[in-house]
Amino acid sequence: MEMVNVEHLTKLFPLRKRLFSREKHYVYAVDDVSFKIEKGKIMGLVGESGCGKTTTAKLLVRLLDPTSGNIYIKNENIADLRGKELKKFRKNIQMIFQDPYESLNPRFIVHDTVAEPLIAQGLYNTEKIYNALEVVGLKPPEEFLFRYSHELSGGQRQRVAIARALVIDPIFVVADEPTSMLDVSIRADVLNLLLALRKKFDLTVLFVTHDLAVARYMCDSIAVMYLGKIVERGNAEEIIKNPKHPYTKALLSAVPIPNPKAKRKRIKIGERVSDAVNPPERCRFYERCNYKKDICKRKYPKLIECCKDHFVACHLYG
Ligand SMILES: Nc1ncnc2c1ncn2[C@@H]1O[C@H](COP(=O)(O)OP(=O)(O)OP(=O)(O)O)[C@@H](O)[C@H]1O
Ligand SMILES: [Mg+2]
Repeated sequence: MEMVNVEHLTKLFPLRKRLFSREKHYVYAVDDVSFKIEKGKIMGLVGESGCGKTTTAKLLVRLLDPTSGNIYIKNENIADLRGKELKKFRKNIQMIFQDPYESLNPRFIVHDTVAEPLIAQGLYNTEKIYNALEVVGLKPPEEFLFRYSHELSGGQRQRVAIARALVIDPIFVVADEPTSMLDVSIRADVLNLLLALRKKFDLTVLFVTHDLAVARYMCDSIAVMYLGKIVERGNAEEIIKNPKHPYTKALLSAVPIPNPKAKRKRIKIGERVSDAVNPPERCRFYERCNYKKDICKRKYPKLIECCKDHFVACHLYG
């Protein structure tokens, strides 16, 4: 069953008008993005800094209003929900942020942080708070309930953030680079915790990361984003073993491989280009692509199904 179905999602950020300039400029942070996530599955959203991952994540939990497009969560389109209806729906979707130092209120003790979403929905219940702390491995809960976030380690803070996200039984969780601010030594623990929780609660997850190796470990499917567009998506193993888009290939060539005998040449692509401000009608990857053809300069490539459940937006493929 499909839990999440995103159609033509778009977010433009207006740039401040320059004096004497009549034109309006927009950053095309998310540009006509579509994907689906099956119930109980994890989709990875991968790409370099500035490609629109966080903007997509925030649109899906409606911390940002989309410019256009549809976001179906369990068949309800939440793209245009406002006010009371939106508040009611928030119970179903939760976000785990990149930086647990910033996302937790320093004046709150753990109890208050985890209780907050329950109180907002009028569902406060002590037992739920205890349970949430236990499932994220903060045991015994009494030992953590009255601590402030500065009294916790980075890993413990992120566990509190996860407990807070799960305490109201969401059906869909968005995790935005949840381990990138943590010490390397504890990243695997938090990733494994997320995998265990997904299994236990049959959660549907959008997992944002710039790291394809992490995406491979965590995700059932992967979508690769480049300057606001999805350039390739499909089953995770398929994308890793059989990448099609020149950008995905370059990203993968930079991922260390476990077998040192298997040599792989690192593919060089140019430096990241600037943000997608009023982008011209052509492939966004044009400037950096080693395989560009004439048509790439004139037309944006459509996302087409190149193999079963594997989609690519590149003029090299049809
Ligand atoms: N509030 C905003 N106002 C204007 N532009 C914004 C805003 N938020 C994001 N952008 C722009 O939108 C684009 C996408 O940003 P976003 O934060 O979604 O990227 P990201 O993939 O999450 O990057 P990172 O890996 O660095 O977290 C960037 O060009 C960014 O400058
Ligand atoms: Mg981001």
